Amino acid sequence: MADSKTCAFIGLGNMGYPMAGHLATAGHNVRVFNRTAAKAEKWASEHGGTACATPAEAATGADVVLVCVGGDDDVRQVLYGDGGLAEDIKADGALSALAAQGSESAVVVDHTTASANLARELAEACGAAGVGFVDAPISGGQAGAEAGQLSVMCGGDQGHFDAAQPVIDSYAKAITLVGPAGAGQTTKMVNQILCAGAIQGAAEAIAFGEQAGLDMNLVLQAVTQGAAGSWYLSNRGETMVSDEFDFGFAVDWMAKDLGLVSDEAQRLGAKTPLTSMTHGYLAESQEAGDNRMDATVIVRRYREQRES
Ligand SMILES: NC(=O)c1ccc[n+]([C@@H]2O[C@H](COP(=O)([O-])OP(=O)(O)OC[C@H]3O[C@@H](n4cnc5c(N)ncnc54)[C@H](OP(=O)(O)O)[C@@H]3O)[C@@H](O)[C@H]2O)c1
Repeated sequence: MADSKTCAFIGLGNMGYPMAGHLATAGHNVRVFNRTAAKAEKWASEHGGTACATPAEAATGADVVLVCVGGDDDVRQVLYGDGGLAEDIKADGALSALAAQGSESAVVVDHTTASANLARELAEACGAAGVGFVDAPISGGQAGAEAGQLSVMCGGDQGHFDAAQPVIDSYAKAITLVGPAGAGQTTKMVNQILCAGAIQGAAEAIAFGEQAGLDMNLVLQAVTQGAAGSWYLSNRGETMVSDEFDFGFAVDWMAKDLGLVSDEAQRLGAKTPLTSMTHGYLAESQEAGDNRMDATVIVRRYREQRES
């Protein structure tokens, strides 16, 4: 087991709740904050940590502050909102207090899938307060979080990464420092472009096979082990065929992620036509009210096109 640290975990959603649980299981002293307080209390009663009323309170005395909320605006709220980490930054707010405790390891780790610009901005704000920052978006889904088997893509300084890594290790199977602040988020964008391609390919292939009158469960058996195999085909193929989507990675989250890709692509002058196409299918799914369904629900758009 790694040295026991005091960790703050902010955002106990589908991902954060089990991730914080793994920190407690690994022997760390965990202080949690969740916007909906009842979830933090439930977590503390299950895991024996401390439920706190604000992010700043959770961060009190922490060596590592881990954040896993929705998107850019939510991270900003955690930093700059009422009771936020950076509130009264110049008058001994939580970040200044972290730096003042003299621990070289004080570092904020953002697991939220957010923009690379935000990561660069937060790295600067934390640096000005004397605290480290690592952007560390995750991949592996809720099942990966529950199993403690996430892939974590990091951006930041080597020293801050080294301080955070043993803590992140509690719920990860792979942790990679890719480059400076923002590189974790940009890597997650690469990850999401790859996922978009896999989802779009699976949806088009399954709808095509159905229209050809094939038994698609047999087709999946035939193709999943070959060169066309993918995580999505293995883990979502059968549920796509049986039209089940009430689980998994929500359409709204995937649409948010591809929006981040498009913004960054525009900044870089990169071409991402595949991302735009999948984003369009996700937008149609949002219009159809499938917002919280797994992103593979886009196969329904192919089926609708066929019927019309
Ligand atoms: N789910 C996945 O499979 C998956 C996979 C990889 C990456 N991610 C990314 O991981 C992040 C979290 O995903 P999730 O599935 O855990 O989401 P989720 O279940 O919707 O949970 C979001 C959490 O953030 C909190 N939150 C949202 N806005 C907030 C705000 N303004 N201030 C304070 N807290 C706020 C929510 O609090 P309440 O309880 O009060 O709502 C909740 O605890 C997202 O960036 C997502 O894109 C998710």
